Amino acid sequence: MHKDVERIVYSQQQLSEVCDRLALEINNDYKGRKVVVIGILKGCVLFFSDLFRRLEIDCTMDFMAASSYGSGTKSSGNVKITKDITEEISGKDVILVEDILDTGNTLSYIKEYLESSSPASVRICTLFDKPSRRTENIIADYKGFTIDDVFIVGYGLDYAEKYRNLPYVGVLKPEVYDK
Ligand code: IMP
Ligand code: MG
Repeated sequence: MHKDVERIVYSQQQLSEVCDRLALEINNDYKGRKVVVIGILKGCVLFFSDLFRRLEIDCTMDFMAASSYGSGTKSSGNVKITKDITEEISGKDVILVEDILDTGNTLSYIKEYLESSSPASVRICTLFDKPSRRTENIIADYKGFTIDDVFIVGYGLDYAEKYRNLPYVGVLKPEVYDK
């Protein structure tokens, strides 16, 4: 285990199983359809890769990045798109893949932005959902785990850009924060 991690919350095995379940749901729901799967960088990358390889539908991948002007443990609410998709989504089914749905600022902004290009549908698939901190009226169509208001890292999720490479999800030791 990494020296900064206090405890593991989700093991590699649990993460793999949740990807199996989510892919099964998506494969059933989108049978026979063409889907553009859009990952929100950078946190989605490990989850995206594990989910995408399990999809058996006709699908393409694209990515977006958004910043909410903050590097710590809080999102500021001021969302800006820093990387846009390159695929045409008009008339297509879109699934947004996110690491964690927290206040909902990022995803509600991105969802609204994409809807202006007239896709056939936009659904949200998030690995983690923290409903206790939601400020926006947004819900995930597919979710891996519902978690309490605790800050987690690993498997793509960062603290100040670190720990994304951990193959499991854990909580940091208190002394690591704000150093
Ligand atoms: P929202 O806009 O408040 O929903 O924030 C979503 C983004 O905040 C996620 O994509 C993450 O980058 C970040 N975030 C929120 N909670 C956590 C956490 O517990 N660990 C790591 N990043 C988090
Ligand atoms: Mg982040």
